[in-house]
Amino acid sequence: MRTQVAIVGAGPAGLMLGRILERAGIDAIILERRSADYVLGRVRAGVLEQGSIELMDEVGIGQRMHHEGLVHHGVELSFDGDPHRLDFQHLIGRHVMVYGQTQVTHDLMDARAASGAQTVYAAEDARLLDFDGEHPRIEYRKDGVTHRIECDFIAGCDGYHGISRASVPLGALETFERVYPFGWLGVLVDRPPVAEELIYAHHERGFALCSMRSPTRSRYYVQVPAAERVEAWSDDRFWDELRARLNPQTAAALRTGVSIEKSIAPLRSFVAEPLRFGRLFLVGDAAHIVPPTGAKGLNLALSDVRVLGAALVEFYGERSAAGIDAYSATVLKRIWKAERFSWWMTSLLHVFPETGAFGRRIQRAEFDYLVGSRVAQQSLAENYTGLLD
Ligand code: APR
Ligand code: PHB
Repeated sequence: MRTQVAIVGAGPAGLMLGRILERAGIDAIILERRSADYVLGRVRAGVLEQGSIELMDEVGIGQRMHHEGLVHHGVELSFDGDPHRLDFQHLIGRHVMVYGQTQVTHDLMDARAASGAQTVYAAEDARLLDFDGEHPRIEYRKDGVTHRIECDFIAGCDGYHGISRASVPLGALETFERVYPFGWLGVLVDRPPVAEELIYAHHERGFALCSMRSPTRSRYYVQVPAAERVEAWSDDRFWDELRARLNPQTAAALRTGVSIEKSIAPLRSFVAEPLRFGRLFLVGDAAHIVPPTGAKGLNLALSDVRVLGAALVEFYGERSAAGIDAYSATVLKRIWKAERFSWWMTSLLHVFPETGAFGRRIQRAEFDYLVGSRVAQQSLAENYTGLLD
């Protein structure tokens, strides 16, 4: 097989890149290790920044999002039961959209199926070859048969555990990492959300987040130790712990039920540099991980894709390599700003076992400063709704 751009991974990054290229008349094949149903079955993030909303519209798949997505003009932050609302609209005239990554992926898959563009699911053992020269190729197995794709470029959109970053020669890549000593235990439940907006709560028992997927489906999280096992958490234990971390009115309003998904995600900050090696690009979670506290993971993946998509369109349209040459430096600037914000939100809202009483006083002072300063609130709002570049 021959294509212009071979995309590894059919998560939101790979599918969105495929969509941008398809609309520009550039041929691409997507290789995905799993099945489409498996990809759609993963419960992931749920908040779109304004730039992501705009990208969905630009590529012509924003319709369902505008119909079913929930526009949020603010969030609540609470510290030891003391709640404060941040009104993004008021502070900086911007908003976010609550629309799950699963739905984004669904919309992209539907559009791809309708266009007839090729996605190979259940593609095993992908090997990325010769991307340091002019003629990269990928070999993979499907149904016991080995296939080969020749291409001009490879886009590594295969997530944190993918093969793309691992294919880069040792020593060509520098990585930066912070692993937090806790994870998030998440529960999905078919009950109306406890509040109209998201609630991020710091409590001495640990962080809690009240989020949602729709007016009838809620997503809740509590901070747990990194080594915690999900089996140790019955639904009742989860609801009791969540209630203990919310302010009493919110706790009383919580609508609990049987969880339809329950899992623990570790928290990590990670960046690889650079993000281009010859004709291979790293994109999305393959390139960077943020802790979920700032709701940046999906948005950052989509902003990488926007830059790479435009660079490839420029390459094929104008025969200019300026965009692809600048890709790594351009996206890393934004990535590090999102890393900073995600690290900061994480630091403010979680309980860090190692920082002791001094650390908690500093967190309280940070919170008091925030709720007393319009400038500090504007900074949070600007970062949360998405920096403009
Ligand atoms: N070959 C083919 N596909 C692969 C391989 C491989 N060797 N390894 C991984 N994949 C696939 C995975 O099965 C997955 O479907 O690549 C896809 C990567 O998708 P995501 O992990 O969703 O990553 P990305 O598209 O960058 O989206 C980032 O995901 O983790 C969240 O918070 C993050 O919301 C953000 C988003
Ligand atoms: C979610 O709804 O899953 C969610 C929302 C906001 C976050 C993280 C996760 O910051």
